[in-house]
Amino acid sequence: MVMSLDLTGRRALVTGGGQGVGRSIALGCAAAGAEVAVNDLDAGRAQAVVDEIEQRGGLGQVAVFDVTDFAAVEAAVQGVGRIDVLVNNAGNAGAAGFGDRSAFADTSPADWEPFLRVNLYGAMHCSRAVLPAMIESGWGRLVTIVSDAGRTGDVGGAAYSAAKAGAAGLTRALARENGRYGITANNISLGTMRTPATEPVWSDPGSDLAKGILRSYVVRRPGDPDEVASLAVYLASDHAAWITGQTYPLNGGYSFAL
Ligand SMILES: NC(=O)c1ccc[n+]([C@@H]2O[C@H](COP(=O)([O-])OP(=O)(O)OC[C@H]3O[C@@H](n4cnc5c(N)ncnc54)[C@H](O)[C@@H]3O)[C@@H](O)[C@H]2O)c1
Repeated sequence: MVMSLDLTGRRALVTGGGQGVGRSIALGCAAAGAEVAVNDLDAGRAQAVVDEIEQRGGLGQVAVFDVTDFAAVEAAVQGVGRIDVLVNNAGNAGAAGFGDRSAFADTSPADWEPFLRVNLYGAMHCSRAVLPAMIESGWGRLVTIVSDAGRTGDVGGAAYSAAKAGAAGLTRALARENGRYGITANNISLGTMRTPATEPVWSDPGSDLAKGILRSYVVRRPGDPDEVASLAVYLASDHAAWITGQTYPLNGGYSFAL
């Protein structure tokens, strides 16, 4: 049995791939041989990741669009061409506001909208755009990056929690609808990572906030984005063909220690 995670000949689209978790997943897919379309709102970030992919001998292309805009997503997907692997990573946790976000009772629909639009509608838009061609080709992988917040609830992050739980449910429905076409759909549920979004917390690891967060983690450090890339590449590979509808906790032991 050959145990290499080979994505040669596959074309992947990684949303929010310009930094953090998405960047690592894009680099990981490219290292495994996939041609990677790196999406971001920020063209400079996406280009920098494509440059990194190419410097390492891989194939990449920039795909600048906003996942909250379905027409833009559809146009971009048509422009990229066939997509075998979609990684729904673009997200918006409001993480810079750890600890000082408002209680749900003090919020209004306008406050919830950005979280629902990126984390839930973004995954819906991109999945809807890529699925017809995956069904046609008889092979596809949907990998969606969700959050422990969607399972445990996040104090001061009700809309984010709801959006991530919604995205996880979307994955399960898509797994059931599309397994017959050789398409799998899985979630990776993250604990607190060290990414540009959370850097304000980790730049002072001795702060009460950082120490308070790490108390919940059996492995007492934030996650490294490269640790997400290896699981995402595995789920995108042929080795994971019989795994679908699942949610993988990747969180330094957070959930079992609760
Ligand atoms: N960082 C954490 O601690 C953590 C924890 C749990 C889950 N997650 C999830 O992991 C994913 C990645 O998180 P991260 O920390 O790497 O994020 P990040 O904020 O560091 O990077 C996200 C990237 O997505 C892009 N983006 C944002 N909105 C977009 C849109 N509408 N369309 C296209 N691109 C968009 C941003 O420009 C940015 O480059 C998110 O889905 C997040 O919710 C992160």
